[in-house]
Amino acid sequence: MRLDDRFDDMVASLRGFYRTWYVFTGLELGLFDALRAAGTHGLTAAELAARTGVEPALAGRWAWGADAFSLVENVDGRIRVPGDVAAILLDADRPEFLGGHFQFAAVGSLDYDRLPDVFRTGRAVLSRPDRYRVAIERLTVQDVAVFFEEVLVAFPQLAADLRPGARVIDVHSGGGRWLIAMARRFPGLRLTGVEFEPDSVDRARANVTGAGLADRITVEQGSMLSVGHVAEADLVYFQYALHQLPDPVATLRSAWAAVRPGGWLVVLDWYLPTDPDELRSAQGELIAGVQLDEVIQGTRLVTAAEALGWFAAAGLPAPELVDLPSGASVIVLHVG
Ligand SMILES: C[S@@+](CC[C@H](N)C(=O)[O-])C[C@H]1O[C@@H](n2cnc3c(N)ncnc32)[C@H](O)[C@@H]1O
Repeated sequence: MRLDDRFDDMVASLRGFYRTWYVFTGLELGLFDALRAAGTHGLTAAELAARTGVEPALAGRWAWGADAFSLVENVDGRIRVPGDVAAILLDADRPEFLGGHFQFAAVGSLDYDRLPDVFRTGRAVLSRPDRYRVAIERLTVQDVAVFFEEVLVAFPQLAADLRPGARVIDVHSGGGRWLIAMARRFPGLRLTGVEFEPDSVDRARANVTGAGLADRITVEQGSMLSVGHVAEADLVYFQYALHQLPDPVATLRSAWAAVRPGGWLVVLDWYLPTDPDELRSAQGELIAGVQLDEVIQGTRLVTAAEALGWFAAAGLPAPELVDLPSGASVIVLHVG
């Protein structure tokens, strides 16, 4: 690459860093929400400030900068958000949703001052602040959309088996977003979340109660190895969790033991690309970015082959791996 082109390439990364913080600020303060609600008419900076509680001069400065990054159009004193920007940043039920990923990147990066030390010593940072787990919950909102829009489409029999009375376990259920989405989509389901982190258990229980679903969703504190469910679930699900667990093989064995005959074990995750061209792609860069985040806490994303190896090591029947349109993959074990 010519030096000028390389320079532009590197500058693009710096631009992305600053753009991320304009996005983060706009999401946290509800600026994008207010602009979308105003439609094509848009808002003045004073109106935007009044609707979001932001200091008026700074609302104007945010809009000015967000315009530089093509996040809003700021013309003749009126600020508008383009429909495609709003859809990608705000529509949590679409697989293209990236708003949560921006929030995760911004909040997660607050811990990145620890990276040099982790790389030097090889010692992970064993606990991250609660804000980090809230950010994870926002990141994995996209996984919930992928499950509904891609996994259930690829496995229609799974959706058919989730009939009223069926039982579902979400292993390491975080803030409970998938549980709540499932309870709403499949009204007769009874769901259990298993979660290890105390603050996530509290958040999940509060979210479930807030959604009015406490009669159908229970959140248990612990791991699959401690809670002792046997042959009772129609579906046991892992979402962005298996690769982070201290013993994925033993956990898979317990999870399969919890599935009743004819039921489903489903693992949704994002795997490391093994092909160099795939690595040097937009998707590969995002995976590499998330891998950097995992380095801090001593966990790592794995290849699909490694994940399949855990199923074999656990002595489970051979599962099916499906690469999904979003770039996520699902591993499904179902002996019909
Ligand atoms: C990235 S979160 C995903 C949570 C949720 N499934 C979601 O999609 O939002 C990973 C989960 O792995 C679990 N986990 C991570 N490290 C763990 C450890 N050392 N022991 C037990 N569980 C752990 C946490 O409980 C956490 O909920």
